[in-house]
Amino acid sequence: MRLTRAVPVAAVVAAALAVAAAGAPDHPPEVARVTPPVPHLAYLTRVPGLEGLAGLDAQAGQALFDRPWAAAPASTRSSDGLGPLYTARSCAACHVNHGRAHPADEAAPVPVGMVVRLAQPDGAPDPVLGAQVQPLATGGLPGEAHVGVTWAHHTVALADGIPVDLRRPVVLLADTRWGAPDPATTAGLRAAPPLVGMGLIAAIPAADILAGADPDDRDGDGIRGRARMLAGQGGDPVPGRFGRRAAEATLDQAVALALSVDMGLSSHLLPNPWGDCTAAQAACRAAPHGDGDARGHEVSAQGVALIAGHLASLAVPAPASAPDARGAALFDAAGCAACHRPAFPIATAAGPREIRPYSDFLLHDLGPGMASPVGEPGVAPGEWRTAPLWGIGHAHAVGLGRESWLHDGRARSLLEAILWHGGTATPARDRVAAMDADDRAALIRYLEGP
Ligand code: HEC
Ligand code: HEC
Repeated sequence: MRLTRAVPVAAVVAAALAVAAAGAPDHPPEVARVTPPVPHLAYLTRVPGLEGLAGLDAQAGQALFDRPWAAAPASTRSSDGLGPLYTARSCAACHVNHGRAHPADEAAPVPVGMVVRLAQPDGAPDPVLGAQVQPLATGGLPGEAHVGVTWAHHTVALADGIPVDLRRPVVLLADTRWGAPDPATTAGLRAAPPLVGMGLIAAIPAADILAGADPDDRDGDGIRGRARMLAGQGGDPVPGRFGRRAAEATLDQAVALALSVDMGLSSHLLPNPWGDCTAAQAACRAAPHGDGDARGHEVSAQGVALIAGHLASLAVPAPASAPDARGAALFDAAGCAACHRPAFPIATAAGPREIRPYSDFLLHDLGPGMASPVGEPGVAPGEWRTAPLWGIGHAHAVGLGRESWLHDGRARSLLEAILWHGGTATPARDRVAAMDADDRAALIRYLEGP
């Protein structure tokens, strides 16, 4: 595949720079961002002003986030109930320093923050292994499979002739000791996203997300994006905003799903104590569980709220570098902001504020190159939620020198991530491929800022 040369962006950039110089229009002040005292803990600073009881609750929530859970029955009943099948023992094991998954290397075991999702052609879970592969199990039971990945490589050439190697994961399951998955089931990798700005994302009014949706390209900008509508409380449809495919509308739901599918822990929102064990896994369903005591479920409603509260109380780090004005203009001129929406207004106790997540929280079809092997009912294979870009300049430090990009961690650099954009984002990608090396570097510098 060779990327075609697109319209030169220089003229548009000059115009955009002139507008930027004229001064920003009337925006409410941005929600305070915090300069991290320690680089690798950039995603772990608290929203300023959060003291006293709220602060203590946030600390209790962080303890639950960090805690390695134990199999039931354990001497500490409040932290048992892990599994019987599980992918990791703690939230922190996958979201290291609250950051993104480490990259999977060509020949090394898949890092813990990369999980394997399974689905039948209609999106239903696999009848044997369920919705996710849990490689680990408690109580002497076998794990579901050994997970391996091979990489399909291809090269694209930028307009100035520079080749870029791109790779896409192909999941291999070996040693399936509960039985092989159904032959029609497909498997796909999902990388743990960074947990930046969760409370601020939760604060965006649903109407503002919906107002950005344009599934039929009515405004003629070539970009189609749609809200993923989910059943809200009382049955009213609400837009999903959390998860790689916006499958969760609230932070509580995202936490409950993680507890269930990643650690086999029940809560009031997902009450099965056996998590992702299927009816075909009778020994798993019959194994000891941690529910039925004073907690009600393995994790009480209060526990879920504490974890969500902890995530919601974390501040967004201050930009990693001074804004690159030329890069900012290139970002606009290339059409990135059409999906990576810079700002949303939110209401706070201190009055109206602005947040700058660089996402519209909509689903966009990024084309066949980004098609997931794992289907979900009502979601096209190439549809993903626009990844927020705030804080990404800290990813390297937070990941202790290792970071991965996109929903399955396939991209090893920001340039690779951009070059995977297809579908409705094809013109934007082509404009980047057509840039000269200086402009490309300015754009990447800008991305590392927000
Ligand atoms: C085994 C690895 C793993 C563990 C353990 C894990 N996560 Fe995740 N987490 C992921 C992956 C992978 C995703 C992306 C899933 C998707 O949307 O497809 C994710 C997504 C999330 C999201 C959505 C973020 C966003 O950008 O919208 C939140 C919130 C979250 N996890 C919180 C938690 C919490 C809280 C825990 C502990 C209760 C936890 N996770 C445990 C791997 C993990
Ligand atoms: C049509 C909408 C659209 C446009 C236009 C678009 N993006 Fe994206 N972008 C997305 C979506 C959706 C994702 C998430 C893909 C995934 O999860 O695999 C994404 C992911 C990314 C990521 C990866 C972030 C991460 O944390 O892994 C980067 C970097 C990025 N985009 C930069 C850009 C740049 C730079 C441009 C302009 C040249 C651009 N995007 C244009 C929709 C878009």
